Amino acid sequence: MASQPGAGRHLLCCLFLSLSLATLAHAATHRHHWEISYQFKSPDCVRKLAVTINGQTPGPIIRATQGDTIVVAVKNTLLTENVAIHWHGIRQMGTPWADGTEGVTQCPILPGDTFTYTFVVDRPGTYMYHAHYGMQRSAGLNGMIVVAAAPWGKDAAPFRYDGEHDVLLNDWWHKSTYEQATGLASVPLGWVGEPQSLLINGRGRFTNCSAAAAGTCSVSHPECATPVFAVVPGKTYRFRIASVTSLSALNFEIEGHPMTVVEADGHYVKPFVVKNLNIYSGETYSVLIKADQDPNRNYWLASNVVSRKPGTPTGTAILSYYSHRTSPRRPPPTTPPTGPAWNDTMYRFRQSVATVAHPAHVEAPPPRADRTIILLNTQNKIDGHVKWALNNVSFALPHTPYLVAMKRGLLGAFDQRPPPETYAHQEYNIYAVQPNPNATTSDGLYRLQFGSVVDVVLQNANMLAANSSETHPWHLHGHDFWVLGYGIGRFDLAVHPASYNLKDPILKNTVAVHPYGWTALRFKADNPGVWAFHCHIEAHFFMGMGIVFEEGVERVGQLPPEIMGCGATKGH
Ligand code: C2O
Ligand code: CU
Repeated sequence: MASQPGAGRHLLCCLFLSLSLATLAHAATHRHHWEISYQFKSPDCVRKLAVTINGQTPGPIIRATQGDTIVVAVKNTLLTENVAIHWHGIRQMGTPWADGTEGVTQCPILPGDTFTYTFVVDRPGTYMYHAHYGMQRSAGLNGMIVVAAAPWGKDAAPFRYDGEHDVLLNDWWHKSTYEQATGLASVPLGWVGEPQSLLINGRGRFTNCSAAAAGTCSVSHPECATPVFAVVPGKTYRFRIASVTSLSALNFEIEGHPMTVVEADGHYVKPFVVKNLNIYSGETYSVLIKADQDPNRNYWLASNVVSRKPGTPTGTAILSYYSHRTSPRRPPPTTPPTGPAWNDTMYRFRQSVATVAHPAHVEAPPPRADRTIILLNTQNKIDGHVKWALNNVSFALPHTPYLVAMKRGLLGAFDQRPPPETYAHQEYNIYAVQPNPNATTSDGLYRLQFGSVVDVVLQNANMLAANSSETHPWHLHGHDFWVLGYGIGRFDLAVHPASYNLKDPILKNTVAVHPYGWTALRFKADNPGVWAFHCHIEAHFFMGMGIVFEEGVERVGQLPPEIMGCGATKGH
């Protein structure tokens, strides 16, 4: 800074001006070169083919400061498989072609090709990236994005801490994603089943090593060594936690250390304290813990499945105090926490409702919506195939990315009929097994008036099996939405909007729809582009649980030719 002390009052305003200029001037560009390849990896001590970034899974953490530009040159060296990478939680204002969603914003990156993603990280917070092609995310292509707040800026954190740690949670199968996808597309359905292991920062432990095929499991493999998080006694730590699971809803706990929740999906939360944290696929949180326990022993970090009957052992890591008396790798003297009852829906519901905006960071939502879309989430049978559908329409990705098709007027590239806005929500019994006849498959999309305010209500119902309804974490690309309300039971448009939280709703990009419940959200259609909105469970999206929004596509700048080359975009 050029300013000198004691130069009087008007310096103060110039100080602010030069501070913001300094922030701009110092916006950095971070360049990464990534080679995507298959490698033999042993994340849970069992050897399996994994999709890696420069030989690693998870990939490197992308670190930047708010306002910086990220440039990632992705070279596909998978040889027999396409790839695309989505930057989850980054809104891609002005760069909708860099969203990395195959079939929506780009053609896949072909084997041997390189595609360069360039985008700005405009807000601080905890985010993630992962493959967005087929079910490739499950194969290991994932990692975190950590964006620091510009110092002294209005987005600086409203809390203090001495150090931080990053925690990426995942679930892991021994079957390949090809086997999983083929099973899901088969008649009868071959379900993926519960994961074999839960991973923390890409490491876990398959408990039945001796039963694994001869020579494929080794408990002493360095790739499955237990992660250790070190803390200094008396200090406060920010743990950034992201879940990139393919299926599991998780409960995360740091034994003996209550957590204060302070951030969710890049937005500051009105702080609240929990013993353990429920986290759904696609969500991120920051929590603060105080290192105030006996420093002469270690503590468990534990990840447990909730909302599905667990068939997977607890995923663990170690919290260790810097001290002379304990080896950081020594297992704690206790058994790892097992989390809350897996089927205690209300326990998780209460955490959802408690997550509201920090009082100093409230961004009030528009008071009313221009349009309300109500989506009934059901399981259906279409031509004998088990599918997921919204208002009886099961989503299928087109071969031509919408962004290109719409900019170029390639009308034949996808179904021009818009999907239904609602269903007979007054009559539908969400607790009954419903045959849901006349379900169809479609690649039609919802066109939104640019700048309009849109409400979406997600209504959960019974699946094809009796007495079962699952949790679905819904994720919206290109936007954050206000979470206006949650309920258990049947949503009623004539009743429930009156109870929406319009005062201090949290902004998020991923939100849970609880079993037999509904979730209402609101967003502004102000980001020109084409954006996916889908359940973040890999198998559910694969089976049709998603939709696509278009807004202001005519305002999108010139498309980079590298996103084309497939479907009807050939030769355009
Ligand atoms: Cu993290 Cu479309 O997903
Ligand atoms: Cu789902």
